[in-house]
Amino acid sequence: MSPIIEFRNLTKRFKTRTLTGKTRERIAVNSLDFNIEGGEIFGLVGPNGAGKTTTMRMLVTLLKPDHGEIYVGGHSIRHKPNDVRRQIGFMPDSFGVYGDMTVQEYLDFFGACYKIHPQQRAHLINDLLELVDLGHRRDDMVDTLSTGLKQRLGIARVLIHDPSILVLDEPASGLDPRARVEIRELLLEVARLGKTILFSSHILADVGELCTRVGIIEDGKLVALGTLEQLSAHVMPHRQLHIGLLDRRDEAQAMLQATGGVSEVRAVDNGRAFLEVDFTGNDEDLHQLLAKLLAQGFPVIHFSEESNNLEEVFMRATKGIVS
Ligand SMILES: Nc1ncnc2c1ncn2[C@@H]1O[C@H](COP(=O)(O)OP(=O)(O)OP(=O)(O)O)[C@@H](O)[C@H]1O
Ligand SMILES: [Mg+2]
Repeated sequence: MSPIIEFRNLTKRFKTRTLTGKTRERIAVNSLDFNIEGGEIFGLVGPNGAGKTTTMRMLVTLLKPDHGEIYVGGHSIRHKPNDVRRQIGFMPDSFGVYGDMTVQEYLDFFGACYKIHPQQRAHLINDLLELVDLGHRRDDMVDTLSTGLKQRLGIARVLIHDPSILVLDEPASGLDPRARVEIRELLLEVARLGKTILFSSHILADVGELCTRVGIIEDGKLVALGTLEQLSAHVMPHRQLHIGLLDRRDEAQAMLQATGGVSEVRAVDNGRAFLEVDFTGNDEDLHQLLAKLLAQGFPVIHFSEESNNLEEVFMRATKGIVS
């Protein structure tokens, strides 16, 4: 893989006027410096006001940086904006104002903007409607679509000029759980077509199952970057097990405490005999630990491992604990 997007020391400040007429400067994006590889599904995650939209607007050449550069497929956003635009499909965080068109007319309009031949456009629109599963709504007015369907139409629209990169600002915001799953599936499908996807969200769980890598941004700075496993390992270097027993909890606690790979065992008072175990071993060690409990006749009724706590990763990263 090679980088398809390169952020180099990217910085953007905004000047705002206060009520008393004073000018205040705020740094919205602060020295971003990282790459996105071709074929990645990259999640840019951060709280409100972190700088996600500003970063994306600079990437798609709608906004000029104060300092730094972005290269897209080797082309500078400053010097080769047309080459950059050709490679990118951008879906902003709010839907455009074209509600009084049918779904088909909407896509046809954007196809015409890209000067795609009418006959070719008709084929393309059929293919895109099939991809986003909107063929049955092609003659409906855009403003009668639900938010989830509008987002799917938005994705079809940004694919119309066959860009190699999709930049999607908060594509899952405002969607119900089913529509979120559908958007996730659609993005995976689009990635399978060979496209690189960069999308933003303020919810880490939204990007978790989808992304090859995640960048966490706060106050304009990148505070964490990596796969979800890498970020979780930073936050929680050990595994955490939950063990439930019918009885003999104190005895089991003492036995586990003396077992290799176990760093701490805590009794949990949730009305039942539960233990919380900090464990540094691998899966084979985990199996041995359970086998030992059963071999000694402990009445185990529950044995589970805490899955990556995404909320915890996000909270700790945005407090600057992960880097
Ligand atoms: N045109 C502008 N003029 C002045 N300040 C701006 C402008 N656009 C953004 N900002 C400020 O820059 C900072 C970053 O904003 P941005 O919209 O990029 O954040 P975001 O991560 O997209 O947030 P959200 O999750 O709310 O969409 C914020 O403090 C915002 O108020
Ligand atoms: Mg935003």
